[in-house]
Amino acid sequence: MADYRVEPGTGIAGRLRVPGDKSISHRALMFGAIASGTTHVTGFLEGEDCLSTMQAVSKLGVTVHRPGQGEVRVEGVGLHGLRAAGSMLDMGNAGTAMRLFMGLMSPQPFDSELVGDSSLMRRPMERVAKPLRSMGAQIETQDGRPPVRIRGGAKLHGIHYDMPVASAQVKSAVLLAGLYAQGDTTVVEPAVTRDHTERMLQSFGVEVFARGGTVTVRPPTRLEATSIAVPGDFSSAAFFIVAACIGAREPVVIEGVGVNPTRTGLLEMLALMGADLRLVNHRSAGAEPVADIEIRPARLHGVRIPERLVPLAIDEFPAFFVAAACADGETLVTGAEELRVKESDRIAVMARGLDAVGVRNEVLPDGLRIEGGPIGGGVVDSHGDHRVAMSFAVASLRATAPIEIRDVANVATSFPGFAGLARSVGLKLEERA
Ligand code: S3P
Repeated sequence: MADYRVEPGTGIAGRLRVPGDKSISHRALMFGAIASGTTHVTGFLEGEDCLSTMQAVSKLGVTVHRPGQGEVRVEGVGLHGLRAAGSMLDMGNAGTAMRLFMGLMSPQPFDSELVGDSSLMRRPMERVAKPLRSMGAQIETQDGRPPVRIRGGAKLHGIHYDMPVASAQVKSAVLLAGLYAQGDTTVVEPAVTRDHTERMLQSFGVEVFARGGTVTVRPPTRLEATSIAVPGDFSSAAFFIVAACIGAREPVVIEGVGVNPTRTGLLEMLALMGADLRLVNHRSAGAEPVADIEIRPARLHGVRIPERLVPLAIDEFPAFFVAAACADGETLVTGAEELRVKESDRIAVMARGLDAVGVRNEVLPDGLRIEGGPIGGGVVDSHGDHRVAMSFAVASLRATAPIEIRDVANVATSFPGFAGLARSVGLKLEERA
């Protein structure tokens, strides 16, 4: 089992780029697969999660070329051109892949079975199966969890779905199934979630109407292949944003990061704590806004996080909890029960990790109370959660003794090259196989 050992830091500095956005890379492959023509993707995230999606679309009969680093060419087979995989589709650690494929496989004329690694096999899938069934899909889960078995040949009809949880994965699965349904499909979100599906479907020529948390998709006759430039992943940049807030020696600049407002809640949360952050050099990569993020060190103070920001920062809480540990006073996060069903139970696992390095905290059913203060050394078990592992690597910048982080191999699911990049800006991180 791979581990990190991170020595207390003397600070970070420099300009860096992070790998491509995971959410956008998954979608580029899936939508490219069912488009007519060849979709060209640059900046593709070559992390294990997106490679699981790539393997799945290949098994479904789609040719995918990889002409160079981060470059992918998807030879779309058209809306009705996918073929039976012939064996189980293995989604690895990727919840996004499994949930979006549930939407995409439901209207196909063939049966499919979706499985994943031990973490994914524990995650809830009924939240997706339920609305898909109400569209006419035939789906079985096992006590609500994978394996997910989908019977082919179902004829779907459009629905109006009031989503009980704020989940972009559920929304996207329903919209994908809606591409094949009879009539329009509408999803109403209880809170705004990432809108990459809506933006990208429009780039493929699909009519999608989105306003005030209500999204409607009109079934198209075809998706037109396109070119997609994937921006840097804000969720990967988050580790270096927090690292710079708590430990920059001089300004740190992260270049070419996707700053879609449905993803950047962390910036607002850190600004509330007194962080010194600036977005500069605004541009766009197709349908997505991109900027460079400049961070200067600042003294952070504890805050109560407004619950409306939770879905806009849903993947950034492990890193944010480290920022809270370095702030003066108490930080309170509530309304974040979704963290319990991520790659790990991120409330419980982060709380145990904070305990291990001497940061006082109190676990709440739907969040965490953290008392900022000194960070000691210790041994942290990431429970195979990539974002927990990277967050405690960042915590080393304020630690008084080495932090050992167990079970870090899954960092490669979202952030290949994290350790090298972290070292290049000044983290004293050693990897052990
Ligand atoms: C994602 C949506 C989020 C997020 C996940 C990626 C997506 O999940 O946590 O990492 O690409 O749609 P939920 O929609 O379940 O909150």
